[in-house]
Amino acid sequence: MGAKVSVIGLGKLGCPLAACFAANGGEVVGVDMEQRAVDAVNQGKAPTVETGLQDLMNQLTGNLRATQDFVDAVTSTDVTFVVVPTPSGEDGTFINDYVVAACRSIGQGLKEKSSYHVVTIVSTVMPGSTGGVIRQALEEASGKTCGVDFGLCYSPAFVALGSVIRNFLRPDYLLIGESDPKAGETLEQFYQCMCDDEPRAERMSFVNAELTKLATNAFVSTKITFGNMMAQLCEHLPGADVDIVTSALGMDSRIGVKYLKGGIGYGGPCLDRDNVALVAMAGNIGSEAILAEATDRANRLEVSRLVDIIKSKRDTSNTVGVLGLSYKPDTNVIDASQGVLLAQALGKEGYPVVAYDPAAMETTKQMVGESVTFAASAERCIEESAVIVISTPWNCFAEIRPGLFTGKTADGAPKVLIDCWRMLNAETFAAITDYVPLGIGPEHQ
Ligand SMILES: NC(=O)c1ccc[n+]([C@@H]2O[C@H](COP(=O)([O-])OP(=O)(O)OC[C@H]3O[C@@H](n4cnc5c(N)ncnc54)[C@H](O)[C@@H]3O)[C@@H](O)[C@H]2O)c1
Repeated sequence: MGAKVSVIGLGKLGCPLAACFAANGGEVVGVDMEQRAVDAVNQGKAPTVETGLQDLMNQLTGNLRATQDFVDAVTSTDVTFVVVPTPSGEDGTFINDYVVAACRSIGQGLKEKSSYHVVTIVSTVMPGSTGGVIRQALEEASGKTCGVDFGLCYSPAFVALGSVIRNFLRPDYLLIGESDPKAGETLEQFYQCMCDDEPRAERMSFVNAELTKLATNAFVSTKITFGNMMAQLCEHLPGADVDIVTSALGMDSRIGVKYLKGGIGYGGPCLDRDNVALVAMAGNIGSEAILAEATDRANRLEVSRLVDIIKSKRDTSNTVGVLGLSYKPDTNVIDASQGVLLAQALGKEGYPVVAYDPAAMETTKQMVGESVTFAASAERCIEESAVIVISTPWNCFAEIRPGLFTGKTADGAPKVLIDCWRMLNAETFAAITDYVPLGIGPEHQ
């Protein structure tokens, strides 16, 4: 008999998690407040866009179903994962309302159940939440005692959109905050049924796990920002090349190569907000997170840095083309995306902006309205622009043909090409454009 699990919230993380358990022989029940998501899952359709999700769901043999009945979901399974939104409030801390509402409904199911059950919070929450309002909601609704009658764990996901399934199946390690050893042990065993390579579990108290989750993303944000700082320094140092420096830097086993490529700022649904939440939490407990604050400040300056480069090259009578709106390649998500922020900042400065992205144009249109126009292709975007910025390193932008840049602008000058990720052949493009690769210093005199 496979693992019997329920997953509350069938969104960008919850549905892949449910499908991963089901693909590994689990009996899985999903719950979502949106009928659309429930219907999609029951029809074998992915309710959200994620690499490999539909393929995984196509392989299932009727062992993933969805409902809006929490009591059914809890009483027919042994572990319930809560993967609902925790939006950021105005002060940067996360709001628990959806998690607490879900836990009240789960508590109704716990009330009906005589056998042992573990509730696992996957949603990112602020330190103090799991042992506080979340435990309280479960105990009040069920009339039972956490750590005695049922177990509670906090086990956030270290996943990136576009690789959610791979990250769930092959995590670096499992982070588990537990109400008691039985709860943590049970959850670890359930994960081992799903994961490919028996990951090591780090088990600890709720508050340490909650802090570890925030610390992880704050650390990665800082590492990215360090690479970006090196890129900026290189731009002012004759003969310097950030890729050569960071490749060597990453060879040091204390540092490592990942997330060091100097370019423009980070975005996405996690790094930015987790780092900001850490700063907010520090303030709320009478402490300071100076490094995280500096990272956030440096990251916010990245867009102005690009705007300044553009202003130094062309005035506002020139159209700027932004290639890339998603916060990273292979997703349509634009949360805190540098490309979108750049397009908005240029619009405010008075530049006409035309944008293209292979996947994120619809989401961007809904957000920016009339202030940006959209090109049907990368080629059209380049044709219409005097300045072109490659803001997201989609693979297709590396294939851009040099011939597209040979047309001169109205004043007879070559087009400016700002290559934030150094995707193009510098020699080829420097011969036909005013080529500006970030992170590369001026030629030696
Ligand atoms: N998206 C990411 O890259 C990512 C990465 C790591 C962690 N997280 C965290 O995971 C959590 C979920 O994020 P997501 O991106 O999957 O969100 P999402 O918005 O894509 O999905 C959440 C789903 O929960 C459903 N829902 C909300 N309240 C509910 C309730 N009471 N009962 C049942 N269903 C309910 C919604 O209808 C929605 O389908 C958040 O805390 C987020 O911070 C997200």
